[in-house]
Amino acid sequence: MEYRRLGTSGIDVSMVCLGTMTWGEQNTEAEAHAQLDRALELGITFIDAAEIYPVPPRAETYGRTEAIIGSWFASRPGVRDKVILATKVAGANNTLPHVRGGARLDRRQITEAIDGSLKRLRTDRIDLYQTHTPDRGVAVFGRPLPLPDPARDGTPIKETLDVLGELVKAGKIRHVGVSNETAYGVMRHLRHAEKSGAPRVQSIQNVYNLLNRRYEEALAEVALRADVKLLPYSPLAMGVLSGKYLDGARPPGARMTLFHGRYNRYLGERCIEATRSYVALARRHGIDPAQMALAYVMSRPFVLSTIIGCTSVEQLERDTAAATLKLEPELLQAIESVHAANPNPAP
Ligand SMILES: NC(=O)c1ccc[n+]([C@@H]2O[C@H](COP(=O)([O-])OP(=O)(O)OC[C@H]3O[C@@H](n4cnc5c(N)ncnc54)[C@H](OP(=O)(O)O)[C@@H]3O)[C@@H](O)[C@H]2O)c1
Repeated sequence: MEYRRLGTSGIDVSMVCLGTMTWGEQNTEAEAHAQLDRALELGITFIDAAEIYPVPPRAETYGRTEAIIGSWFASRPGVRDKVILATKVAGANNTLPHVRGGARLDRRQITEAIDGSLKRLRTDRIDLYQTHTPDRGVAVFGRPLPLPDPARDGTPIKETLDVLGELVKAGKIRHVGVSNETAYGVMRHLRHAEKSGAPRVQSIQNVYNLLNRRYEEALAEVALRADVKLLPYSPLAMGVLSGKYLDGARPPGARMTLFHGRYNRYLGERCIEATRSYVALARRHGIDPAQMALAYVMSRPFVLSTIIGCTSVEQLERDTAAATLKLEPELLQAIESVHAANPNPAP
């Protein structure tokens, strides 16, 4: 396992980060603890959660994933200090009425959210506290890009960042990150931090996979010039890039089977076509299609740590192994050709 510096934080994180959003919905507490134990053995020291997990987010399950991580800390003395723990506070684009009547990144809500997360996680600090979605109109989760309308923006970035700065001073969080942000948003965060002494954003967590490489259009430049690197989520396009949904297959217990219709953005005709090409390409090169898709993401220079999602220890082991898989130039070129012929089929 390789470890990389998180922005200017001085903290090193494993290049594979363990996602958690299936815990408490698709996975039981015991299954989640088994994944966490195995992840540590594999050298994964970075965990990504959110107050609203598991997904699909529901009022009845709100906070359950964090509580499962908290019970793992409580049952394994000393383990908390071995991991870098990231979680998220929900923002307006999460559009969940059950979260404080409609989440906003304002002072009152952030202050309430952090105390809830710390309590559930049974820890005294979060290493990386991320805003889950911006408080202004942006394209997230496959929704169309709204025309920016400053008059309708929610909490100003300045207010959010100042409150997060107070949490750093109070020792409740160590560093700040953003998620589902745009290049404009990241630069605004950096500018306010430079001017005011508020915390510097250390990472951005956005979707990035072979079916959606929109991140590259503006944010790759921010990553490499301003050192706010990517923590890519859904690197397998929610499992689709493994090829297991091809030809209409719906394996029992798998995400797209269980939550039929909810994640259709990854199952459109163009997505299926691109997936078919990537799967065939991987097989021609004798590589597991899921591992090829993960190795591609992991090898991008703007990626800091790839957030994998697993519903079993077996998936965890296979997905982590992609970190040591080197894709040959000829294969990388072939991947670019598939992309050029059918770019970003998932919105
Ligand atoms: N910031 C955000 O808005 C946001 C959004 C989404 C995710 N995230 C974070 O990113 C993490 C990962 O996202 P994701 O779960 O969507 O990632 P993903 O890697 O695209 O999909 C993971 C899912 O694919 C299936 N899978 C994994 N390995 C496989 C393999 N080798 N072969 C076949 N199927 C496999 C599993 O689901 P099944 O077993 O059900 O098929 C697994 O849950 C989340 O846990 C969360 O921490 C953040």
